[in-house]
Amino acid sequence: MLKIVIASDHGGLKLKSSVITHLKSEGIDVIDLGTDTPNFSVDYPDYAAKLANAMKQPDTKGILVCGSGIGMSIAINRYEWIRGALVCNETSTRLSREHNNANVIIFGERLIGELTALSCVNVFLKTPFLEGRHLKRVEKLSMPKNLLKPQEK
Ligand code: RB5
Repeated sequence: MLKIVIASDHGGLKLKSSVITHLKSEGIDVIDLGTDTPNFSVDYPDYAAKLANAMKQPDTKGILVCGSGIGMSIAINRYEWIRGALVCNETSTRLSREHNNANVIIFGERLIGELTALSCVNVFLKTPFLEGRHLKRVEKLSMPKNLLKPQEK
């Protein structure tokens, strides 16, 4: 069964709470990895690392939130089993699943409206990877760095 994990820094805490409330109202279980308080600042790479670790379990999808979404995006894509997509609307979310098989989406709380983010969550959970011509491209994303060669013309 699909497991959803979520984490944020202090800059993404409010939107994280809204996403959790939304998922629970849909009957979807979500594991909240923090942060839990807006009262002090935390470092987004630490929460990306917690989520990456939780994503080692099979059948898991992740949601990350920080102020801009940028720090979390950079941090989470350092883990080779993650394909994290910073999304801004339903279309970018759908494409992140269909073309990139994203297993994590990232929001910037200061850059996306709450209702848009909740719609993105719905799209993220329901949209399948299309495979086909996209499969070999996605496979290249997890290729060891020493085997990656630039395509010559
Ligand atoms: C925290 O103020 C902010 O820098 C962080 O949430 C994020 O936007 C970083 O990329």
